Amino acid sequence: MSGAGAAGGAAQAGAKPPVGTRILRTVAEMTAFSAAAHARGERIAFVPTMGFLHAGHVSLLDEGRRRGDRLVLSIFVNPTQFAPSEDLARYPRDLAGDLAKAAAAGTDVAFVPDDGQMYPAGYQTYVRVRELEQGLCGASRPDHFQGVATVVCKLFNIVRPQVALFGEKDFQQLAVIRRMVADLNQPVEVVGLPIVREPDGLAMSSRNKYLSPDERQRALALSRGLSAARALFQGGERREDPLVASARAPIAAAATRVDYVELRDAETLRPVGGGLSAPAVLAVAAFVGTTRLIDNLRLG
Ligand code: PAJ
Repeated sequence: MSGAGAAGGAAQAGAKPPVGTRILRTVAEMTAFSAAAHARGERIAFVPTMGFLHAGHVSLLDEGRRRGDRLVLSIFVNPTQFAPSEDLARYPRDLAGDLAKAAAAGTDVAFVPDDGQMYPAGYQTYVRVRELEQGLCGASRPDHFQGVATVVCKLFNIVRPQVALFGEKDFQQLAVIRRMVADLNQPVEVVGLPIVREPDGLAMSSRNKYLSPDERQRALALSRGLSAARALFQGGERREDPLVASARAPIAAAATRVDYVELRDAETLRPVGGGLSAPAVLAVAAFVGTTRLIDNLRLG
């Protein structure tokens, strides 16, 4: 744990910092913290989030705590990754709850910038990962991964972590970030961690909060569809069509609208071309009511 203690800035902003977690709200404060940690030879582990933390986020913090001398969490609902029609304005927020979870996980710093800190007047630079940002979620959210890559690139430059932790729940996002780090020679080790699920199988997501009790039940079709495909795969099925069809059927029956159910190469995210030879990912996105949910399963 940090001996840094609670920051005055947090108290001024009205949120009470849990003991041991400093809240930093400006880029200048965050870069100063990182520079001092680097000067001391400390290894910074970093978990970027949009807040409303759940056990999936906490699994990233726990692993970050193990891998770094200092653990930094960012909470920033990034406007550039939301389309005008999406849920930016109503995205769930709970800073007090997030800070309590962060402190319990041994987080040294919560970096909580506002839009003006991240995108000041005159801002105009964006990062695109041209192939990986296409298809899957990129097909229905054309500017989404540009927003994700841009904000993660900026956060890496501000926080300067040696290791950053991401969830495999957002499989395409993880692939985009790995590619960006390699292509831009960023000195960050990117670690992907498994999907954390509710006891009944639903992948944890901040957006699950939007679901009514009936929708919450119907949302189980995503993980059930993937489980059906896994059972087929374990039985020896390697052809794309039956694997995809077995996942799609229960999802199509319960969801309001299926966005996609696709089998892709786990590394390149390219189509598998009929059958499985290399490790693959079966990825799904569907609307339940107005809530868009994603899930995936690695095969092979
Ligand atoms: P957010 O949706 O808050 O997710 C933050 C991190 O938690 C991501 O790496 C995501 O994959 C991971 N995560 C979410 N649900 C998970 C689950 N059920 N199990 C394991 N990990 C899970 O993803 C974002 O924010 C943003 O796009 C961000 C990367 C912060 C850029 O704005």
